[in-house]
Amino acid sequence: MTIATAQPPTTAINFTRGVPANESFPIDEVIEAADAVLESHGAAMLQYGPSLGFQPLREWLAGWQGVALDRVLTSNGSLQLIEFLCLRMLRPGDVVFTETPSYDRTLTLLRRHGAKIVGIPLEADGPDIAALEDALKSHAPKFFYTIPDFQNPAGATCSGTKRRQIADLAERHGLLIVEDAPYRLLRYRGREEPTLYELAPERTLHMSSFTKLIAPGVRTGFMIGEPKLIASLAKAAEDTYISPGYLAQGITLEWCRRGLLLPQIEHLKRLYAPRLEACLASLDTYMPDAIPTRPEGGFFVSLTLPDGVLIGADLPVPMNPVTLLVDSNPVSTEYAGGAPGLINGVLQVNFKVPDLAPGSHQIQLQVAERRSPAGVNLQTK
Ligand SMILES: Cc1ncc(COP(=O)(O)O)c(C=O)c1O
Repeated sequence: MTIATAQPPTTAINFTRGVPANESFPIDEVIEAADAVLESHGAAMLQYGPSLGFQPLREWLAGWQGVALDRVLTSNGSLQLIEFLCLRMLRPGDVVFTETPSYDRTLTLLRRHGAKIVGIPLEADGPDIAALEDALKSHAPKFFYTIPDFQNPAGATCSGTKRRQIADLAERHGLLIVEDAPYRLLRYRGREEPTLYELAPERTLHMSSFTKLIAPGVRTGFMIGEPKLIASLAKAAEDTYISPGYLAQGITLEWCRRGLLLPQIEHLKRLYAPRLEACLASLDTYMPDAIPTRPEGGFFVSLTLPDGVLIGADLPVPMNPVTLLVDSNPVSTEYAGGAPGLINGVLQVNFKVPDLAPGSHQIQLQVAERRSPAGVNLQTK
């Protein structure tokens, strides 16, 4: 059976991916920061420079994060740092641990480098520690990639207790933790937990980004870690792009120096927190028998769909622009290389859109179709 009749409505609601809302961008402030930094550092902005990044930005980051300068590497967005890490650390067949499910683009990069991905099931309060401990008995992973705050795609946050257990395991097993934390500062309620870097600074690479705080357009990500490894990643960066985009880094620095970061974080919280509430309310209304995660921040809610609802590798890429049930996140088992974790039927919802009710209703309809007897095909053409 093919559902081929409905015309796609004109408004597209994309439920997936960590894309910030256009209306969150501080455009005027970015224009002013760009003007100022081109005035003050014009040549440096337009010239090549060290691959570690624009030194004044690195100095600012070092001060902000409370670390030595040689621990700071910047790049064109944080995803690229993962690519450099893979280039430096991985040979085909090497084992890497990730949460399952995990951020699909990281998984793509790991696969591209031939990594054998071992998935550690993700629970509502972070990775399953017993499974992590067990996996460490039979594997010597190059690193454990984890997103402890408002995880992509699950929305789960690692508890303080589990963070300490992970730090302890890392110390005992010589495990390198790669802590990817781009959503950490977008906490709408609840209590902040320490970073893994704070708990195990010699065993952790901490990554974050201005993508979710200013805009993806500034493409400024950063990593904090052990100086020798940082220098080695900077060499991989140099061999890849000579130097990162200094103009973007200069704008980012000038914007931060003007004291705009904290007010912007407060602005983003005011923008997104009600949307999260609206999203959860809408899911409760339209899908009362599905169980959403109830995150305290970030961009993602995920749903455990009711028994009998199929969503997985068999799900075709949706053609209807209103509802993208899944994007490139087909199914947790396949996509994180292990046993299913927190969410079995992953339905990733990014609540950056203000009114989710129409989309939730669409999900409800599609889920209803998925429940019906075999042969349902969600493609609209
Ligand atoms: C967990 C995670 N890491 C990294 C990134 C990439 O961020 P950037 O734009 O800094 O490369 C994203 C973007 O969605 C993300 O969700």
